[in-house]
Amino acid sequence: MRIILLGAPGAGKGTQAQFLMAKFGIPQISTGDMLRAAIKAGTELGIKAKAVMDAGQLVSDELIIGLVKERISEDDCKQGFLLDGFPRTIPQADAMKENGVSVDSVLEFDVPDEVIVERMAGRRVHASSGRVYHTTYNPPKVEGKDDETGEELSIRPDDEEATVRKRLAIYHDQTKPLVDYYKGEADAGQCSYLTIDGTQPVEQVSALIAETLG
Ligand code: AP5
Repeated sequence: MRIILLGAPGAGKGTQAQFLMAKFGIPQISTGDMLRAAIKAGTELGIKAKAVMDAGQLVSDELIIGLVKERISEDDCKQGFLLDGFPRTIPQADAMKENGVSVDSVLEFDVPDEVIVERMAGRRVHASSGRVYHTTYNPPKVEGKDDETGEELSIRPDDEEATVRKRLAIYHDQTKPLVDYYKGEADAGQCSYLTIDGTQPVEQVSALIAETLG
């Protein structure tokens, strides 16, 4: 099963990726998490990506395409994968096609910008696992600690309101065109396409996805 999670920053892709990984036993490929890991490790990619990400801009298609290509060739992706944060531009989607990588389902999370800005203010993350929480809507069992490891949660540097608004503008300009792109693919019978009301509570969004994907 190959799934693309499509939606604005903060729409809930990473949150539902945790649910989908557990349900379908497929790995999450989060380009954002991969880039943050590269920054932490101080690799050449990380050094190139840091300033771009902190400013809320997109990393170049060339770097991202290379990163994803390498990742999906790994053994754990043979039974499928969950793309979270990729593709994010038309050239990235085209590159997938050109490399013969098809998808089964595209799940679009629809959430208004103002809801997103409010959500990001309360987001807390466990950086090494990619687990995501919210101080009000999806709190950890113990305040400020990851449920699995008990380690400290942190705030992402790009969650500051001005940066979030920049990321939203880039989403509308460069990523939103993928909605029509994949609706077209679905009309041509290449994949299924589902738009989900991402303003519903986390568990209801999960239930809706489970019902649709079977
Ligand atoms: P990335 O890490 O991919 O960030 P993003 O797409 O901006 O998405 P987020 O992780 O911010 O949000 P999400 O949809 O996963 O929401 P979440 O589940 O956390 O990318 C970061 C940067 O890396 C980019 O800006 C770019 O620079 C670079 N990059 C990455 N991929 C790239 C690519 N392909 N090309 C170029 N550059 C790339 O939820 C948000 C909050 O809401 C959480 O607190 C959560 O608990 C809460 N929440 C979730 N669902 C609900 C709900 N239903 N109700 C209430 N609260 C909810």
